[in-house]
Amino acid sequence: MELRCSVLVLALAAVLSVAAAYDPLDPNGNITIKWDIMSWTPDGYVAVVTINNFQMYRHIMSPPGWTVGWTWAKKEVIWSMVGAQATEQGDCSKFKGNIPHCCKRTPAVVDLLPGVPYNQQIANCCRGGALAAYGQDPAAAVAAFQVSVGQAGTTNRTVKVPKNFTLLGPGPGYTCGPGKVVPSTVFLSPDRRRKTQALMTWNVTCTYSQHLASKYPSCCVSFSSFYNDTIVPCRKCACGCEHKTCVQGDSKRLAVTGKQARGRHHGDKEAALLQCTTHMCPVRVHWHVKLNYKEYWRAKIAITNFNYRMNYTQWTLVAQHPNLDNITEVFSFDYKPVVAYGSINDTAMFYGLKYFNDQLMEAGPHGNVQSEVLMRKDATKFTFKQGWAFPRKVYFNGDECQMPPPDAYPYLPNSAPPAGAAAASPASVIIVAFLALLLMRDLHWTDLLVLELLFHQGRRRRRRNSSASAYSDADSDTEWEDPEDGVGSLFVMEGTPEKEPFCEQLSEQFEAYIYGQRKETSFKT
Ligand SMILES: *[C@@H]1O[C@H](CO)[C@@H](O)[C@H](O)[C@H]1NC(C)=O
Ligand SMILES: *[C@@H]1O[C@H](CO)[C@@H](O)[C@H](O)[C@H]1NC(C)=O
Ligand SMILES: *[C@@H]1O[C@H](CO)[C@@H](O)[C@H](O)[C@H]1NC(C)=O
Ligand SMILES: *[C@@H]1O[C@H](CO)[C@@H](O)[C@H](O)[C@H]1NC(C)=O
Ligand SMILES: *[C@@H]1O[C@H](CO)[C@@H](O)[C@H](O)[C@H]1NC(C)=O
Ligand SMILES: *[C@@H]1O[C@H](CO)[C@@H](O)[C@H](O)[C@H]1NC(C)=O
Ligand SMILES: *[C@@H]1O[C@H](CO)[C@@H](O)[C@H](O)[C@H]1NC(C)=O
Ligand SMILES: *[C@@H]1O[C@H](CO)[C@@H](O)[C@H](O)[C@H]1NC(C)=O
Ligand SMILES: *[C@@H]1O[C@H](CO)[C@@H](O)[C@H](O)[C@H]1NC(C)=O
Repeated sequence: MELRCSVLVLALAAVLSVAAAYDPLDPNGNITIKWDIMSWTPDGYVAVVTINNFQMYRHIMSPPGWTVGWTWAKKEVIWSMVGAQATEQGDCSKFKGNIPHCCKRTPAVVDLLPGVPYNQQIANCCRGGALAAYGQDPAAAVAAFQVSVGQAGTTNRTVKVPKNFTLLGPGPGYTCGPGKVVPSTVFLSPDRRRKTQALMTWNVTCTYSQHLASKYPSCCVSFSSFYNDTIVPCRKCACGCEHKTCVQGDSKRLAVTGKQARGRHHGDKEAALLQCTTHMCPVRVHWHVKLNYKEYWRAKIAITNFNYRMNYTQWTLVAQHPNLDNITEVFSFDYKPVVAYGSINDTAMFYGLKYFNDQLMEAGPHGNVQSEVLMRKDATKFTFKQGWAFPRKVYFNGDECQMPPPDAYPYLPNSAPPAGAAAASPASVIIVAFLALLLMRDLHWTDLLVLELLFHQGRRRRRRNSSASAYSDADSDTEWEDPEDGVGSLFVMEGTPEKEPFCEQLSEQFEAYIYGQRKETSFKT
């Protein structure tokens, strides 16, 4: 009996993982495509098609943006479109005089680019296919176009709802249900004194499944902490190593690939040009447990782009951690709680500040964004033990990132470190002179290196308590005085470090912390 039960559960799980597009952190997330017939024409109708992204943190990036497709139920044609266009006209040879915009039985429609003439625009159109996440920018989470359909019915009984809707965003991943006739949409006039309604309305709901989008994750997570020297890197081949080519992250190749990058327009993953790493992920999220205060603790998040061919615009990061219900301050990212189940408040969405870091630049010296999160401790829950301080789940742009195996999480040293060990604090302070020396040489790191530069505007105000209590859960080694103090750049490097960011900053006064072990260094001139 028990056996049969578990077999059933297993089978169910298998079915679910393939078919169900269920995101536990965003259970109601979907994209709806709504058709409102606004008027009848001699041989068909004019409809306004509205695409609403109700997903909290998954957006559609431009270029190339969304593509909506369907199969006509009869012999319909598209006479004209406003605010979007069919990608192919198809065979319109039967038509004399007026030639339709599209005669294909399965049209594929894409958005127009910003800046098209006004007579080709309608409200919410022409964003190059970009569709923001609802949680980030509800006003930009909607797209619309108008379509004039011929050879269709001209009453609500003869019109047939198109079939087999598809949505690319921009790659695969979305599955759309059938179009369902729903009560006609009611529109309110701008002065809110008159209501009009569509002649007929149908809705299509599309949901996302990461399994359909790609076989492998598209991002991975690495960890480090102030209390343990070990850096936990991304899993090897976290994003799949088969059939993947990559380039070494040196500047000569960069110049070449940069040129290639300009000519192309498709955002598909096949076209990614990755920097060689052990994980082979286009994006890595690093979570560093940075400081322990009496009542607060601080984590640092750095997102690194390893794809030379992708600028991630309007990126989002979602992290699940029990202490995210008590965020006191988030530096240099925007932030919103994601409360999927009313009472459980352990998930937060982070995204870039507009015009500052809402774009994660292509791989290279500028291909990273970072933030610090200050959380208030809940004395009953807080601990550094058993990797508690690390996130449970991380999503980048709505795709779940591959986490390190649970047994690899950095853990607290078992015994209080002896006096000698305390001096060799994991956060070794290295002063400018040494760092400059370090940077002048072509260092070769074979392992992950986490290096933090702190820039000081004026006097350092943080008091460090060098006693062994640094590791304890309840006490703190540092007094928290000024939230701005100690906010610096975290460089998480693999292989040969990018040198540019350091050279730029060399003139400034800074202090560097190096976390983790250097496995091998080789010096070239
Ligand atoms: C789609 O999302 C909206 C908004 O969250 C929700 O009201 C609706 O029930 C969802 N539809 C489906 C079919 O899940
Ligand atoms: C079609 O229109 C008639 C009235 O013209 C209305 O009673 C009926 O509910 C409409 N059907 C649909 C599916 O909208
Ligand atoms: C819709 O798709 C299904 C499965 O892909 C196919 O069997 C069916 O023929 C399609 N319908 C139309 C009208 O193309
Ligand atoms: C149809 O979709 C719109 C959003 O596009 C939504 O507001 C409306 O509630 C949906 N209608 C039904 C019956 O699901
Ligand atoms: C990324 O953006 C920068 C600046 O806007 C641009 O120079 C670069 O070509 C872009 N890269 C890609 C791959 O689109
Ligand atoms: C969830 O936590 C955030 C961060 O502290 C807080 O701003 C928000 O009010 C909380 N929401 C709920 C529903 O408890
Ligand atoms: C945040 O933590 C403080 C102190 O532990 C507690 O009083 C407060 O209720 C917490 N807030 C939330 C939203 O959990
Ligand atoms: C740090 O954590 C690792 C596990 O990631 C563990 O193997 C190591 O012993 C820890 N270091 C100390 C000093 O406890
Ligand atoms: C440093 O930590 C020790 C042990 O917890 C404590 O007794 C001492 O008061 C602390 N010093 C400061 C300056 O906070």
